[in-house]
Amino acid sequence: NDMNVFVMKNKREASQKAFELMKQEMENGADVFGLATGSTPEDLYEIMTASDTDFSGITSVNLDEYVGLSPEDPQSYHYFMEKHLFSKKPFKETYVPNGLAEETEESARYNKIIADNPIDLQILGIGTNGHIGFNEPGASFDSETRKVALVESTIESNKVYFEHEEDVPRYAYSMGIKSIMASKKIILMAFGEHKAEAIKNMIEGPITEDVPASILQRHPNVTVIVDEEAGSLL
Ligand code: GLP
Repeated sequence: NDMNVFVMKNKREASQKAFELMKQEMENGADVFGLATGSTPEDLYEIMTASDTDFSGITSVNLDEYVGLSPEDPQSYHYFMEKHLFSKKPFKETYVPNGLAEETEESARYNKIIADNPIDLQILGIGTNGHIGFNEPGASFDSETRKVALVESTIESNKVYFEHEEDVPRYAYSMGIKSIMASKKIILMAFGEHKAEAIKNMIEGPITEDVPASILQRHPNVTVIVDEEAGSLL
């Protein structure tokens, strides 16, 4: 496959690299970003916030949201995006799935948003089990936005953000693999030793629904930016 892989010294330098690629894409006319949450893109959002780059012409479409959490809930992905980026940098329009909406309606609404705003640049993290967005192992490569059940290992990884493990939502609305694959360019970042195996499987392993991120081997324009720990098994 022809993924571009950059192994950087640390998260900061990796995020700086991602920011430079982002600016390049903006110069090339990109005006719809697919955005992700989690600890992985935090430095990128900080660098975007501190920069003098104007994002007021950019529309953003986020990957996922926990079912049952309101936008004002501090654990929600809405809240995360407001806190780390949108409250500090004006965007033209920002979309995040609505965790309080009904499943069928919300899936249709969000799929239309994606169809109306084709993603030029998708930012991705990766789960330790190879998930992208909340597309867990076994998710169909043909999937679009829908309600998904989180697997035990994801609940385990994400419980650090909640007071009690029981508080971690069991379901999420997630953009599907098919929609992620439709974006023109993808930047996937991963940091830390706990991501090393997922990164190896994604880049060097077989393309299988057991490792959702492995489908990215079939995308024509993927850049993977990792720190030395996450790249240690390559
Ligand atoms: C979460 C999110 C993903 C994210 C991944 C890794 O559950 N749904 O979009 O990429 O898991 O999270 P982190 O960046 O905190 O390691």
